[in-house]
Order: sequence, then structure tokens, then C-alpha cells
Amino acid sequence: MNVAVLASGTGTNLQALIDNAHGTDGIRIVGVASDKPDAMALQRARAAGIETGVFAASAFADREARDAALAQWLARRGVELVVLAGYMQLLSASFIDAFPDRVINVHPALLPAFPGLHAVQQALDYGVTVFGATVHFVDTGVDSGPVILQRAIELPDARDPDDVLDRLHPIEHELLVDAVRLIARGAVRFDPANPRRIVISR
Ligand code: GRF
Repeated sequence: MNVAVLASGTGTNLQALIDNAHGTDGIRIVGVASDKPDAMALQRARAAGIETGVFAASAFADREARDAALAQWLARRGVELVVLAGYMQLLSASFIDAFPDRVINVHPALLPAFPGLHAVQQALDYGVTVFGATVHFVDTGVDSGPVILQRAIELPDARDPDDVLDRLHPIEHELLVDAVRLIARGAVRFDPANPRRIVISR
């Protein structure tokens, strides 16, 4: 399965995929793209010998044009799964339509709680004591697609978003690697009785 990763930032989730999924069970990361030319994720990709692409907002007339160029770049590489790993841009509906049920995202909250930006700060402000991470399919909404995997962690004394993110990152890495490997095995299906529900055969 040819995989592409879109990332805007540090790329620790990308690194987890490079270290634990790339080159296993027919999984190949064939490209890493970013909207940020200086994203550390791009350096991680280059260090692993993976092709990179930059699609900065400033280089295109609008989001449609940028996403069309990105979709072409991915299609040329035969990409079958697009992984958003800290990609800080909303994707247009035409991009999502080009990869039906083939775009997944990792989010640092237990969706549907705290979608969107600053999820951990939202959770802290709300006063929750259980935090967590979600890997989900991407639809045209904000963090609203069907849930593939989730894991919770109790942090009753948490006050600092960076501390919480430090605790969540290893969980995200495990869930994301697991999700990609399950999808590669054909083990992730939509429940015909309720397409919001994902059935996983382990
Ligand atoms: C992760 O916390 C992910 O949940 C969110 O963006 C962050 C990316 O982290 N969508 P990294 O760049 O993979 O370290």
C-alpha cells in the first residue's frame, strides 16, 4: 500500500510511521508533503530517503488550486492512503472526493470532544480528567469523520498543555501505526448498518 503523509510541524507521528510501518507488510511511504517549507517533518522524510513536496498557500490562487496540485502529486505516486499527521490546513471537498475513505487523521482528543485547533487546551479549559487520542477517517468537516481507533489516559492533575501533549504523543504514535497497518491488511471496514461505525478484524 502506497502511503503519503501530510504534515506541517515537527513530524513525530511521521517518524513513528517511518520507523514502524514503512517497509513492513507492503506499506511504503512514497511521499511526504507540507504546506510549510521549513517543517521538520520534511527533514525527517528526506533523512529516510522519502520524496517531499511543498504546497504553500502563498504559491496558489486559492485552496482549491493548491489541493488540486497536491492531489495530482499524490496520484502520480500511486498513493492509496493519505495520512494527516499534524497537517494544519483544511482540505477541500474535491480533495477528499479524490481519495474516498482513504484519508485519515490523528487528533489529540477523544472525538467528538474538542475538535479543531488547540484540542488539549480546550480539554484543560473544560476541566476534564480523562484525555486521549483519536485516529479517524477524514470527511469534509473538522475532525468529524468516523472513528477508527481511540485510547484514553487519566490525567486528573494535568494543568499544562505541553505536559499533556507529551503524554499523548506516544499514544498517538501507536494508534497511527496500528491504524495504517490495519488498513493495509484490509482489516478496517465500514459497518453497512451504520457507516459511522468502523469494524476492525484483528
Ligand atoms: C499531533 O498532536 C496530532 O494529534 C495533531 O498534530 C500533532 C502533530 O504532532 N493533529 P507531530 O508533528 O506528529 O509531532
